[in-house]
Amino acid sequence: MIYLDNSATTQPDRQVLDSYTKAATQFFGNPSSIHGIGMDAERLLRKSREQAASILEVNPHEIIFTSGGTEGNNLAIKGIALQHKNRGKHIITSTTEHPSVLEACQGLETLGFEVSYLEVDQSGIINIETLKQEIREDTILVTIMHVNNEIGSIQPIKEIGETLKQYPKALFHVDHVQGFGKVDLDFNHCHIDLCTISGHKIHGLKGTGLLYVRNGVRLYSLAHGGGQERSIRSGTENVAGIVALVKAMRIAKEQQSNIKTVDILHRKLIDHLEGNKRIVINTPKEKKAPHIVNFSVPGLKPEVVIHALEQYDIYISTKSACSSKSSDESAVLIACGKDRNVAISGLRVSMSYHTSEQDIDFLCKKLDVVIKNLGKVMG
Ligand SMILES: Cc1ncc(COP(=O)(O)O)c(C=O)c1O
Repeated sequence: MIYLDNSATTQPDRQVLDSYTKAATQFFGNPSSIHGIGMDAERLLRKSREQAASILEVNPHEIIFTSGGTEGNNLAIKGIALQHKNRGKHIITSTTEHPSVLEACQGLETLGFEVSYLEVDQSGIINIETLKQEIREDTILVTIMHVNNEIGSIQPIKEIGETLKQYPKALFHVDHVQGFGKVDLDFNHCHIDLCTISGHKIHGLKGTGLLYVRNGVRLYSLAHGGGQERSIRSGTENVAGIVALVKAMRIAKEQQSNIKTVDILHRKLIDHLEGNKRIVINTPKEKKAPHIVNFSVPGLKPEVVIHALEQYDIYISTKSACSSKSSDESAVLIACGKDRNVAISGLRVSMSYHTSEQDIDFLCKKLDVVIKNLGKVMG
């Protein structure tokens, strides 16, 4: 199997599964219980929080464990909006965010908040000057992703953070779901107030993730109850899932030195795709993550290409089904100014540190065959 859909989800690492099983078996207690079994679970939870904080170089109490990226983004955006609605009702985001950001913002619009959607250039990058123009007296939140999940562009997080330093009322949230373990992000230097990470994108487990909430930043809770996670996110903690998340984070950080290899494979794949006149490359040449390559074969339906590659046990993807207004058009590619033929035929190859050179060679070979054969059928 050649699995190249790692931006959708990753195969859990064996060590992560082992950590999960061990924690779920030996530390099954409720961390809120006051007996020994509960206290053992509580100790493990505390240790995991400390480890997560040390990996991110933040304080343990700044970590709120969640169920993943969608929850983290919703908690950050709605939590800030509802907490600070008396201070202002204006939010800034970009047109190419993940649906968990865009739809959280659209949900807030129905509650009377105003949202500015920053446009992006051909590479999918926002313009800092435009951001400055959009900031208002009543702006309470700017939410911008680090790495785009469809085309891999990297937003200028440091510049955005530095800009926002001059506007202390506007908090800064970063969706780091596709960036963690692939592209460095220094929360402190970038003046980030809130940051979302998801476990299953980094060889961890589905249903795990965390939201970094900078010391002093207050959020309205979306899940009231037993007061866990500093009352920001009530609910009995998923201790084994949290242990698995931290293990995955640690492995991802260790493997980050191998990300250069992924970048070399990225270059190799792009070089190959550039040699085929039927292919349009959508991933930007610069300011892009090492693991995502997006391209279109105008005239060919992406799902047909995907299924044809599947015959060779190769798995790639099209744009995420939920990220476009029209069922077959990529909103991200449209936002980058691509014409409709390109925007309806986008394909995404997303690698991980498990991807080998042989995998990419085999993909290149079979992709050529598939495009040639399907091209003949199309006439
Ligand atoms: C950039 C980005 N943000 C958020 C999410 C949502 O994460 P999760 O699947 O953990 O809810 C995804 C998932 O595809 C993503 O790519």
